[in-house]
Amino acid sequence: MEQVTIERLGHQGDGIAPGPVFVPGALPGETVEGEISNNVMAAPRIVTPSEMRVKAPCRHAKGCGGCQLQHARDDFVEDWKVGVVRHALSAHGLETEFRPCATSKPQSRRRATFSARRTKKGALAGFHMTGSDVIVPVPDCLLVDPKLAAGLPLVEAMAVLGGSRKGELSVLLTTGDNGLDVKVSGGKELDPQLQSELADLARAHDVARVAWGDEVALTRRPAVQKMGRAEVVPPPGAFLQATSEGEAALLAGVREAVSDASHIVDLFAGCGTFALPLAEHARVHAVEGDKAMTVALDKGWRMAEGLRHVTSEARDLFRNPLLPEDLHRFDAAVIDPPRAGAEAQVAELAAARIPRIAFVSCNPVTFARDAAVLVGAGYTLDWLQVVDQFRWSTHVELVAQLSLTDR
Ligand SMILES: C[S@@+](CC[C@H](N)C(=O)[O-])C[C@H]1O[C@@H](n2cnc3c(N)ncnc32)[C@H](O)[C@@H]1O
Repeated sequence: MEQVTIERLGHQGDGIAPGPVFVPGALPGETVEGEISNNVMAAPRIVTPSEMRVKAPCRHAKGCGGCQLQHARDDFVEDWKVGVVRHALSAHGLETEFRPCATSKPQSRRRATFSARRTKKGALAGFHMTGSDVIVPVPDCLLVDPKLAAGLPLVEAMAVLGGSRKGELSVLLTTGDNGLDVKVSGGKELDPQLQSELADLARAHDVARVAWGDEVALTRRPAVQKMGRAEVVPPPGAFLQATSEGEAALLAGVREAVSDASHIVDLFAGCGTFALPLAEHARVHAVEGDKAMTVALDKGWRMAEGLRHVTSEARDLFRNPLLPEDLHRFDAAVIDPPRAGAEAQVAELAAARIPRIAFVSCNPVTFARDAAVLVGAGYTLDWLQVVDQFRWSTHVELVAQLSLTDR
């Protein structure tokens, strides 16, 4: 049995003591004791608890691997996430004004991927235990919208109908005004019998749409998502922001950053989360790698009333970024790349010198790298806000404004 004192929290949410020794569930300042094997104290006893420690609010927290930081106070987690961003910026010599963190409420996640497996008695659905293939049922999950938790019996029924005996189903549930939107991966092949059984199940659970693998198995009602005044039906499984509150906070930041613009380019536009609301006041060109998403965005724009002109383009912005000659006509840019960031596109943005950029990122490390290129080209990083739509997890998301100062 050894005793160690935690110095800091690692990127996976583990406490880290000198050594390093990784201690899951421990917080900075805590003294813990237990057996250490391969630099990990897997089952620590907390000897001196931190003032930042709280009793995990969710009754599933102990077994479920869905959340990593339920044992810490919200203000601690917010400060930690801000610290992660500050640290990433400082590696590039950057600093900025940090606005207060916007953390989404419990039970606000509007989409979740549940795992499900057939059992001798029926099926089991829930989240995986940390680092394990054991599935923990989470009927009272405090993370997800209650409509998602209420969908767990549906997920189990899908595993009974379409799960293979050995494999595991992955079932993405998304809330929507027309009912749940469901996408199932890892199931047996979709045949006419399964299709008709799924239709009965969808009726019984009042589901809007079911996609099975890459096929839309059935649509009872359009799986609509509101994006400003527009209603968009995203392709099954397409990217959406994780909570409505988080989306609203990101959009408020983006709107502020590009508020004076009359022609905006939205890079990595998805199905139009930012492009369509921004089209209430400006013309927008939306660029996105996934063709089906641009089609959904365009259809949503065409059906909406009172929006300015929106054009959309399917384009791989890693391999084929928009060039300065494509970008000159815009007076603001929104950019929201995947975790890898937008190295190639940001190099072109830096050369194009568009006056304002709203930057949304889900990875502080690639954000800092890309922001440093823009700052090197004469932009100022005016402000940044951490938007935490992944409460109780180690995931960090942000929105920031950059403006050109030496025009
Ligand atoms: C973080 S999401 C943001 C989407 C959108 N801005 C939103 O808020 O809903 C990143 C988007 O980048 C798209 N994407 C990923 N790689 C891409 C690439 N190489 N070129 C263009 N788009 C890409 C994804 O399909 C996804 O829609």
